[in-house]
Amino acid sequence: MYTSKIVGHSSYLPENILTNDDFSKFLDTSDEWIYSRTGIKQRHVSKVNTSVLCTNAANILLEKFNIDPLILDAIIVATSTPDYTIPSVSALVQGNIKASNAMAIDINSACSGFVFALSTADKYIKCGNYKNILVIGGEVTSKQLDYTDRTTSVLFGDGAGAILLQRTDDNTGIISEKLETHGDKHDFIVSGFTGVNNTLNKEDGYPYLSMKGRDVFNFVTRVVMKNIISTLENVNLTIDDIDFVVPHQANIRIIEVLARKLKCDPSKVFTNIDKVANTSAGSLPIILDEMFNNDSLTLGSKQNILLTAFGGGMSCGSLVITL
Ligand code: UT7
Repeated sequence: MYTSKIVGHSSYLPENILTNDDFSKFLDTSDEWIYSRTGIKQRHVSKVNTSVLCTNAANILLEKFNIDPLILDAIIVATSTPDYTIPSVSALVQGNIKASNAMAIDINSACSGFVFALSTADKYIKCGNYKNILVIGGEVTSKQLDYTDRTTSVLFGDGAGAILLQRTDDNTGIISEKLETHGDKHDFIVSGFTGVNNTLNKEDGYPYLSMKGRDVFNFVTRVVMKNIISTLENVNLTIDDIDFVVPHQANIRIIEVLARKLKCDPSKVFTNIDKVANTSAGSLPIILDEMFNNDSLTLGSKQNILLTAFGGGMSCGSLVITL
């Protein structure tokens, strides 16, 4: 039976940075409030659209790992902030990087998107017809933010990251997973409303991102905790068998609660939310790239990592991956 192995990684962050102090110049907020409630100090903000960030991340990976784009069989992009409804971001990336042998699809599972996309890529590989799949998570959430709303606009940043998954038979890759959707709680995070607009009806609605922050916080500490434990128990592992827990970077307080409830050594939980804020589907590939680059993680090392993410839908998912 085939499994899928991580053989490449990259990330791309736009050069412009907005600090907490920048926000306090036009909103009733402060660095003290934002940092103490979220762990965020700054976020990158993009002048260009999601497909450009994703293409940049893809090109960095291809160059760094000396990959011919023609070997790619598929490109899967996790995003909830596409440039267009049609075409998909993945189709734009496929054209931009000249990966003419790759089929391309987008996955929208909000901030959980990268976990859902990696799981999907893994299944394509396990079916036997796909060998090399580029999985990208990228967002320009800034275009969906209401910059007069201090409860949401300070939380998010833009960016993209990529992972190359390759078919192998050496028992590495995703060894356990649990993905969940809680559609009854879909109103906890809502963004990008496009109403009916035709000869029969015209619907008005708030087009920006809105969030019930407290409800999200409580959802995460309750549902995600169970999700992680179930993912570990599926393969008879405990948190002590995990070398690094890599959580979606949404809020440092959520990450601390999860680590405490898991009884996980804090040194096993890497965070970069202070620098990048919540980059939604970009969060996990961006932090993974940083961890590979600072030698916390090594390709082919057989380290076990636990990826966990949660977001709109409401959705959540965890993967245990052997590198
Ligand atoms: O990928 C999923 C993404 N979402 C999340 O992970 C969000 C999870 N939730 C959270 O992280 C927290 O709920 C927040 C950071 C969003 C908010 O923190 P909180 O401690 O739950 O604050 P709150 O919403 O209960 O608001 C407390 C006060 C309110 O003022 P009043 O009504 O008590 O006067 C807010 O208006 O804080 C106020 N507030 C702010 N004050 C200064 C909210 N945002 C700000 C702000 N600056 N940026």
